[in-house]
Amino acid sequence: MSRVFSGIQPSGVPTLGNYLGAIRNWVPLQETHEAIYCVVDLHAITVWQDPADLRRQTREMAATLIACGLDPQRCTLFVQSHVRAHAELAWIFNCIARLGWLNRMTQFKDKAGKDREAASSGLYVYPNLMAADILVYHATKVPVGEDQKQHLELANDIAEKFNHDYGVDFFPHIDPLIQGVAARVMSLRDGTKKMSKSDPSDQSRINLNDSPDDIAQKIRRAKTDPEPLPDHLAGLEARPEARNLVGILAAVTGTLPENLLREHAGQGFGAFKNTLTDALVAHLAPIQAELKRLLEDPASLDAALRLGAERAGAVAEPILEKAREIVGFLPR
Ligand code: TYM
Repeated sequence: MSRVFSGIQPSGVPTLGNYLGAIRNWVPLQETHEAIYCVVDLHAITVWQDPADLRRQTREMAATLIACGLDPQRCTLFVQSHVRAHAELAWIFNCIARLGWLNRMTQFKDKAGKDREAASSGLYVYPNLMAADILVYHATKVPVGEDQKQHLELANDIAEKFNHDYGVDFFPHIDPLIQGVAARVMSLRDGTKKMSKSDPSDQSRINLNDSPDDIAQKIRRAKTDPEPLPDHLAGLEARPEARNLVGILAAVTGTLPENLLREHAGQGFGAFKNTLTDALVAHLAPIQAELKRLLEDPASLDAALRLGAERAGAVAEPILEKAREIVGFLPR
């Protein structure tokens, strides 16, 4: 059974993009693979996090993942900083990855913004830590949204250079699993930008904890165009906002976009948006109820995360030990 790894940052309430692009695809993999999922707090502090907020958001993110269908008995669910092997392998990878490779990372350019000199050095070497997250488990499949593709290519470059430099066949090749019609959910205000936790406008995204009223209002205000819906996919090509809304409804209802268009062809967005709102509210209600229940019992949540960290550590430690030996560190 091959091993799957993925992670999510605890830097705010997850968006519908996180859910449709990643979390939802993690759930079935628990049945078919050895699945390891991680709340990546080490990654989160590459930009400033208030310590109390970070603690709260880390727990909330873990609870959200469980509410979305991850079962801590059937997968390994843990907090990144609880397994020290990630940070240690990341240091070795800092010494493998070339500056030129990191300079090409578009996410660093986006996140660092205009004042690059003021970005943390952690933000710059973030992809090396991401490579360590995956490779410290010898995981070979990584379910993510489209935006993480470049980082996974870099992880493969790191694994190959490590193997080549030390003359070993130690780290495996990683395959991204980028699934479904919602691998890239776009902002509700601008169909050319991805939906993101860090967008200053809350109107640009659906948060997993939004109330039915919030969802209705955000969908009603979502940017569209004056044309009615076409009857085939090609008719959405130059209409990013319309394509996004159709993609979201398709993902939430498990319908093919083509079939949705056949059903709604000729309709304006008013009626379509009502259907979309109802579908989102119905889909998110049970997740929200379960999240509320889980957050009322933080002790059980913490116990589940401790168990997850123990299991993860048991897989990672021997792999890290071997990497240390390959590099030439003296045995302890
Ligand atoms: P993060 O926390 O930004 O996002 C978590 C997951 O959500 C996906 N995603 C989206 N998918 C579709 N449409 C969107 N608008 C959208 N926004 C986010 C992301 O692709 C991701 O899969 N660096 C990672 C976390 C990470 C990781 C790893 C992932 C750390 N180590 C190792 C995989 C393997 C990140 O910041 O994800």
